Amino acid sequence: MNKIVSTFRRLLGKEPASSPKEALRRLDLHPAPAPVPAPAPAPRKVIEWTDDLTVGNPVLDGQHKKLIAMINTLGQPDLSVEDLGEVIFGLLEYAAVHFRDEEDYFTEVAPEIVPAHFLSHTVFIAGAYRFVQRFQRGEALALRDTVYDFLCDWLIRHIRNEDSQYYRRSHPAA
Ligand SMILES: [Fe+2]
Ligand SMILES: [Fe+2]
Repeated sequence: MNKIVSTFRRLLGKEPASSPKEALRRLDLHPAPAPVPAPAPAPRKVIEWTDDLTVGNPVLDGQHKKLIAMINTLGQPDLSVEDLGEVIFGLLEYAAVHFRDEEDYFTEVAPEIVPAHFLSHTVFIAGAYRFVQRFQRGEALALRDTVYDFLCDWLIRHIRNEDSQYYRRSHPAA
């Protein structure tokens, strides 16, 4: 066997490659270039609670503030995959508690507008569930901006415009 190898070496005039890189160089192949690191996510503005978000119930306002804290966690430029997962799974837990409390309270204050409101909550839960599925499929940080935008839209469209209707109804002079 050694004789065959040495014959080939003599014919080729080459010694074995000293490293995989050298072997690739001889074959005129090159290792794939190093991946370009993903650009750092753009910093997001910190969102703060404002009085126009109140629904006139301190427990519900506290839960809305918790949601704002979750949005601000997502907005951190150094957000880790673990932090993202905590927020995404936390949304389902948040929704279960908050919507139950909110629906109980709103049913007392203005039962006539509750059914449409319940429907919006169902849409939120469906969205949060989709995020969990996408996270479990490994989309991880690619999801961050989508979840962030979804929650900001929810804050403005739902909490400020729909939840706060109950405050205006329960405090007509406000
Ligand atoms: Fe709410
Ligand atoms: Fe609501």
